[in-house]
Amino acid sequence: MSDFEGLKALVTGGASGIGRATAELLAARGAQVAVLDLDPSSVEKPLLAYRADVSDDASVRAAVAAAAADLGGLDVLVNNAGIGAQGTVESNDDEEWHRVLDVNVVGMVRVARAALPHLRASAHAAIVNTSSIAATAGLPQRALYSATKGAVYSLTLAMAADHVREGIRVNCVNPGTADTPWVGRLLDAAADPAAERAALEARQPTGRLVSADEVAGAIAYLASPLSGATTGTALAVDGGMQGLRLRPVGQ
Ligand SMILES: NC(=O)c1ccc[n+]([C@@H]2O[C@H](COP(=O)([O-])OP(=O)(O)OC[C@H]3O[C@@H](n4cnc5c(N)ncnc54)[C@H](O)[C@@H]3O)[C@@H](O)[C@H]2O)c1
Repeated sequence: MSDFEGLKALVTGGASGIGRATAELLAARGAQVAVLDLDPSSVEKPLLAYRADVSDDASVRAAVAAAAADLGGLDVLVNNAGIGAQGTVESNDDEEWHRVLDVNVVGMVRVARAALPHLRASAHAAIVNTSSIAATAGLPQRALYSATKGAVYSLTLAMAADHVREGIRVNCVNPGTADTPWVGRLLDAAADPAAERAALEARQPTGRLVSADEVAGAIAYLASPLSGATTGTALAVDGGMQGLRLRPVGQ
């Protein structure tokens, strides 16, 4: 499929996991792709790489301007960079709340703000934000992380309304637990990584973790010019975790 032929895309957090799979998929489908990441050292051609911290407005503005100049414009923004946080409301102090909100929510605002002037010039402008099933389901030990992803979901709706008449579509994906380096780090830190993986897999009706490629496929669907009538939606890519209620096996 070459639905992205001639389009220019920017993917934040594109050096790893979901972002990396997305950058590679968009490139395979014809886009010229720039990656913005804290550590883009592993990013290889044909992807372009820009170092920036989404919690630093100056570095975001510089990287987005450089990417748009090198690509010759911007049609697609994938706002995907994010970090995790664990615990209940009692587990993290104010500083940590501000830090994670700053990266996961304000980070997307900063990149969108810098990208919007370029997107307005596109005939096929689309933004896809990476939210999470944590925005729509109550998961234990994820108070801070869930608050940030709920904010990303609401931000997606508000941005979709603000920019629909400018021809800019805004949607988000809500992945379930995805098999990325991030989840690998979480499993490595668990007392019993095999048991922890089994518990995460069992939580999903499909009985397995979501792959980064599957999330990338959903992001590409939402970003594609073929989806011109789709804006203000959240697409679950969670192995059925949000919508299905199964009976125990054998019952
Ligand atoms: N893996 C999951 O289970 C899962 C589930 C739902 C949602 N998500 C979301 O998907 C997105 C990507 O997650 P992943 O699992 O691929 O993670 P990952 O850790 O594999 O990749 C995240 C990338 O973002 C970059 N990054 C982090 N902070 C940054 C910053 N301040 N500025 C610029 N870049 C930064 C990292 O360098 C890394 O390359 C995140 O927003 C995450 O919340 C992940």
